Amino acid sequence: MSHEVVEKNIGLLAILVILVISVGGLVEIVPLFFLTETTAPAPGVKKYSALRLEGRDVYIREGCYNCHSQMIRPFRAETERYGHYSVAGESVYDHPFQWGSKRTGPDLARVGARYSDDWHYVHLNNPRDVVPESNMPAYPWLTDATLSGDHTGAKMKAMNIAVGATCPTCELYSEEEIANAQKAVQDKTEAQALVAYLQGLGLASKEW
Ligand code: HEC
Repeated sequence: MSHEVVEKNIGLLAILVILVISVGGLVEIVPLFFLTETTAPAPGVKKYSALRLEGRDVYIREGCYNCHSQMIRPFRAETERYGHYSVAGESVYDHPFQWGSKRTGPDLARVGARYSDDWHYVHLNNPRDVVPESNMPAYPWLTDATLSGDHTGAKMKAMNIAVGATCPTCELYSEEEIANAQKAVQDKTEAQALVAYLQGLGLASKEW
């Protein structure tokens, strides 16, 4: 009987539909506001050094995320190949995050310390020199391009704003670190910065 009232009254039906969807949405969204594990660094996860921050920008500029994800799903096939599945607290210092979704190449979330620095330099210069069947593009210019560091301090300040707004327990860059940023990266090559970035990926997860 009451069901018939609702079905014959489009205004009432619309209000009840909105009510049901709102409750469903709130039940999904509200608990996230109180879960600190999504907004706090996972154990051992540290902010990027100046060089790694620059390396991450090279990674973004070269579009490495078009072929490489940094997101290990919690399935056996994934964890046996790559290591511990990815957790939210690993990405608290990543603005923008590099999870990606396309895997032409392997996931890189756990690639840190898997190869030597020299392996990476050779691989970036020409992947076929170390992996003959590779179809990854070569990035030879990274070894010639040096960093000026002109904007490294400004990037750190921007990170402080982004990280500070989303992660209350994260460590921000100090005035001193920002002041020394340019010196820390100046005259290093883009390849050095990129390899420093890659070698840090997933290091914390080895302790979990
Ligand atoms: C067109 C797709 C493509 C792009 C773009 C690409 N890669 Fe790759 N990458 C691959 C493929 C395929 C492999 C597997 C073969 C190999 O090791 O070379 C690979 C392998 C790797 C590996 C070794 C991973 C492992 O666990 O063995 C690293 C590290 C890597 N890529 C880094 C990068 C970086 C850094 C960039 C950007 C500068 C990049 N890739 C851009 C396709 C790509």
